[in-house]
Amino acid sequence: MQKCVRLTFAHQRLPFSDCVWPNRAKTTQHGSRMEAQFTFQKFALSNATQFKTMAETIPATMKALVKTKPTASYELVEIPVPVPGDGELLIKVERVSICGSDINLYTWNEVGQAIATLPFTPGHECVGKVVKVGPNCGEIGVGTRIGVENHYYCGNCYQCTHDLPHICKSMGQFGHGKQTVHGGCSQYTIVPARYAYVLKTNLTSQQACLLEPFGVAQHAIEEVECKDDTLLVIGCGPIGLLTVAVGRAMGAKTIIAADVIPAKLELAKTMGADHVINSKDEDMLAAVMKITNSDGAGCIVEASGSPYMVNTCFTFLRKGGRILLVGLPKQPLHVENVLHNVIFKSLTLKTIHGRKIFHTWEESERLISQGLVDISPIVSHDIPMSKFEDAFSTLLKAEGCKILMDPQA
Ligand SMILES: NC(=O)c1ccc[n+]([C@@H]2O[C@H](COP(=O)([O-])OP(=O)(O)OC[C@H]3O[C@@H](n4cnc5c(N)ncnc54)[C@H](O)[C@@H]3O)[C@@H](O)[C@H]2O)c1
Ligand SMILES: [Zn+2]
Ligand SMILES: [Zn+2]
Repeated sequence: MQKCVRLTFAHQRLPFSDCVWPNRAKTTQHGSRMEAQFTFQKFALSNATQFKTMAETIPATMKALVKTKPTASYELVEIPVPVPGDGELLIKVERVSICGSDINLYTWNEVGQAIATLPFTPGHECVGKVVKVGPNCGEIGVGTRIGVENHYYCGNCYQCTHDLPHICKSMGQFGHGKQTVHGGCSQYTIVPARYAYVLKTNLTSQQACLLEPFGVAQHAIEEVECKDDTLLVIGCGPIGLLTVAVGRAMGAKTIIAADVIPAKLELAKTMGADHVINSKDEDMLAAVMKITNSDGAGCIVEASGSPYMVNTCFTFLRKGGRILLVGLPKQPLHVENVLHNVIFKSLTLKTIHGRKIFHTWEESERLISQGLVDISPIVSHDIPMSKFEDAFSTLLKAEGCKILMDPQA
């Protein structure tokens, strides 16, 4: 029997092990595109061998990382396995990967405090298998492997009702305590069925848990339209590196990658960059102009989040080119010489937030499952979740690249 005590607004005063996570995400009306995608998922289910009826034994308690207090680090605790409510799935997590934003949540810096709400279990990039299904989950059954669309759209706002749920006005977020306390750094987790991406192929756990950040890169490349053009990717963290690889797969003619860390630039070459620039040691503008015959890059994806780079990238752009901002600068935008660097360039400036639901997921799974992109070079560690402190200390030292954790180990 699972011991359950309802979590209230006074939850901080309850011992964590006495709390059951409340199901805060409301079941709301789906937009038409959502319904279409749901139908697609049903089709995929009936045509794949993912639907298994053999239920597995679910333990009463599980290990999970939690943050209940506004301090650095997480606690590894033993808490009850949650029970899926209406429209919810219980997932046994296979892998969870650590994202740059998880570092803010872990250290609980200003950014972490702005993007998360206590209490929560972290981990928004994960894959797992459905082990229990609540009422009204459509045809998603036990045994189905899913990825989690961590942007919990509301289904009711202007964007959600106009086929733009990925930029929902009232977005919750898995792994951030935003409209759900659940996250992937947990042996089991709760995911509303509407945010579950049903895997259609046999991706490995490592590949599947990276579909979420991969989708950001795929979305960026789709928006910047770099086929047969020169692509400059600034910042070679996981997002930039995946952007290089997707750009290559989608037919970019020449790819230039920039970073300040030599090891990242080596990885960029492995992922498909033709030229790399260390923007700390080299004159970036001169280097880009030399490679592009003084024209500038036709397409730029800014994935460093460095305020300096976000403000300067306009100078690297060819007239009539396209800029896609994905990195998150913590300072205001300020472009020098706005006439020459912005207006007279007749440029296109786009931004993205997350993935298109679920178009991006389908395209990302296709690119990986068909072998068009190999994600393995960016995985620097695949470790048991019990070693989470090692993972964060590695990333805090700016070492490693993408770190995956196995919550079952
Ligand atoms: N818009 C979205 O939906 C979305 C989604 C995921 C991540 N992000 C953001 O995208 C950015 C990249 O994500 P990530 O996980 O790869 O982060 P990351 O921190 O791992 O990577 C950033 C990279 O930029 C490099 N860098 C820093 N300053 C630089 C400079 N001046 N010149 C060149 N390179 C520089 C760093 O060395 C690092 O390799 C972050 O800002 C992140 O918050 C946005
Ligand atoms: Zn992330
Ligand atoms: Zn909405």
